[in-house]
Amino acid sequence: MEVRVFDDVDELGRFAAEHVIAAISAQPDAVIGLATGSSPLSLYAAWAELARERGLDQSAVRGFALDEYAGIDPEHPESYHSVITKTVVEPVGLEPSRVAVPSAEATEEAAAAYEEAITAAGGVDVQILGIGRNGHLGFNEPGSPLDSRTRRVSLTAETIADNARFFDSAADVPTEAITQGLGTIMDARKLVIVAVGEAKAAAVAAAIEGPVTPDVPASLAQHHENVVYAIDRAAASQL
Ligand code: GLP
Repeated sequence: MEVRVFDDVDELGRFAAEHVIAAISAQPDAVIGLATGSSPLSLYAAWAELARERGLDQSAVRGFALDEYAGIDPEHPESYHSVITKTVVEPVGLEPSRVAVPSAEATEEAAAAYEEAITAAGGVDVQILGIGRNGHLGFNEPGSPLDSRTRRVSLTAETIADNARFFDSAADVPTEAITQGLGTIMDARKLVIVAVGEAKAAAVAAAIEGPVTPDVPASLAQHHENVVYAIDRAAASQL
């Protein structure tokens, strides 16, 4: 595991984006796992900038988002369909038809189809990940089985409270979601985990230095052979 600490979030973003760019440069139809949240925004901005500067052909790149709220209208501005389009697909210039987000219907069939689509694409080359304050990955909350696959899940009160800022009120935040499982995430060939800010310090310390346990889903990354943490000094403050 490589842990890199940055004072400057733009520099953090450039470092993390280089892993994505390297995968695409090596293989034009690379499969990139995409995360929502504020953590990867500097990565996405740097990816867009570096790809433009280097004239990278990204027309064959595939993308798979980690998760989506259950029952949300995909056209809702805070659906992960919308967020992935706004924060990644458009700025980076990916081909929209080559980027998938789990279906908000969140049925068993939709979950199985998502797993099959990832497998059919050859698996994820680089998975971008944020980390929840409670150590969650995607919407795999504490207690999620370490071998879980894409499925419908319930959100914890903490996650609903954290995500309420994106909605009119906490009551408007969906209480369920569809998420790639921890087993799905671990199948990616490389994990790039981004964390920014003091609020993530305890989760980062538990994930990197604590025991591997379902109580801290991100701790499972200790078992991955190719994982890079790009974190700022505040997020690193409890290491
Ligand atoms: C949501 C997403 C996670 C993300 C987390 C952290 O719960 N499902 O994938 O990592 O938010 O968000 P932020 O980066 O804004 O702190």
